[in-house]
Amino acid sequence: MSDWERLATCAEIAPSSWKVCWLNEQRVLVINLEGFFYVIEDVCSHDGASLDEGCLDGDEIVCPRHGARFCARTGEVLCPPAYEDIHSFPTKIEESIIYARDDRWD
Ligand code: FES
Repeated sequence: MSDWERLATCAEIAPSSWKVCWLNEQRVLVINLEGFFYVIEDVCSHDGASLDEGCLDGDEIVCPRHGARFCARTGEVLCPPAYEDIHSFPTKIEESIIYARDDRWD
């Protein structure tokens, strides 16, 4: 099983925003939605765009390239032209520090 990696502190990420971090060699978005934190891979499943240049619309991530939408909590695809989910990583908070684990190959 993969180890937990420290990504950021809660105070670094304002509500309804994200911070780009690295989880092993994967760029991820650490997202603050109303004080709950989610870690989602930063790559659109349609054509590989970095979602960091897109935006949050409520709890949806909007891809900057062609407008696909993903659930910021789960990575579920919500709108074409993407048809595959993006990965949402297990996340935990300890003493106001956000950790995630890359479980893709566990
Ligand atoms: S690359 Fe994201 S919608 Fe096309």
